[in-house]
Amino acid sequence: MEKLEMLYEGKAKKVYKTDNKDLYVVEYKDDATAFDGAKKGKISGKGVVNNKISSVIFTLIEKKGVPTHFVKYLSETEQLVKAVEIVPLEVIIRNVAAGSISKRLGIEEGTKLSETVLEFCYKNDDFHDPIINEYHARVMGLASTEELEKIKEYTFKINEILVEFFKEKGLNLIDFKVEFGRHNGEIILADEISPDTCRLWDMETNEKMDKDRFRRDLGKVEETYREVLSRIE
Ligand code: C5P
Repeated sequence: MEKLEMLYEGKAKKVYKTDNKDLYVVEYKDDATAFDGAKKGKISGKGVVNNKISSVIFTLIEKKGVPTHFVKYLSETEQLVKAVEIVPLEVIIRNVAAGSISKRLGIEEGTKLSETVLEFCYKNDDFHDPIINEYHARVMGLASTEELEKIKEYTFKINEILVEFFKEKGLNLIDFKVEFGRHNGEIILADEISPDTCRLWDMETNEKMDKDRFRRDLGKVEETYREVLSRIE
């Protein structure tokens, strides 16, 4: 397998074509952004750590029956994935209120939600990833009813898998964001799952073990990402 030209550069990753049109190489970067790109920085070693964390998590999710783009870990910062067409939706699950739901709806951060909340956002920087519902997703042609059903089914299943997994590691999964893609007409989990895309609180101390350390200038950012990896490896 040969790595060819770069196809896309995102905020935290680069995607490369390969000599197999069905496969891409994803390279994880140290760059970090927050607040819709208003805050920019680097978290030293993040690319290496997130590549490992995401590889462990995608392997687990695949094993538990949700199809994913993950093929294999290639190097410290690279993984081989199935080529997908990304569905332009950010799918967010919330178990406990934090971040934007607290700001938007006034639910105090740390409040356990009486049921799991799923949100869709339209993945579009020009519009600042606005929250939308399934009607918007359909009329904008982002996904079909069948695809939205699959996406919801997979996302709730991923939540069950990850709540249990992180609990065993002493971590409370507060919320997370996932993205899906189309591969041979099927919906599969794509993108990454890491402390960049989840909120994880230590079960004993409630200490934040995720990107909120960068967003909110809480310090010990690099150490925290490494600590999450050491707990799940
Ligand atoms: O900011 P908000 O509270 O809506 O984020 C909910 C969850 O989704 C958090 O875990 C956050 O890290 C993740 N997220 C993300 N990428 C975005 C927006 C949110 O990974 N663009």
